Amino acid sequence: MRDLVGEQPATDVARSAGEGRENWIVMIGVCTHLGCVPLGEAGDFGGWFCPCHGSHYDTAGRIRKGPAPENLAIPTFEFTSDTIVRIG
Ligand code: FES
Repeated sequence: MRDLVGEQPATDVARSAGEGRENWIVMIGVCTHLGCVPLGEAGDFGGWFCPCHGSHYDTAGRIRKGPAPENLAIPTFEFTSDTIVRIG
């Protein structure tokens, strides 16, 4: 079970699905400013861009510019097999 608990640095590895699955990341695509849905592969950092008020997130969902107060949330999830991810 992947569950971010407490304060962790928002490194690429910490935001990924973990050891052996560093190429996977699961995020909730809701802007942490006021809840709009950011556009993918957009913005100044090639990640996510929220056009509502101009928040730019990088590809790992870290807020880099704009009014959003937090990184995109990472839900609790787990790989139940190599091809299936259970979220929540
Ligand atoms: S809701 Fe995304 S920047 Fe305001």
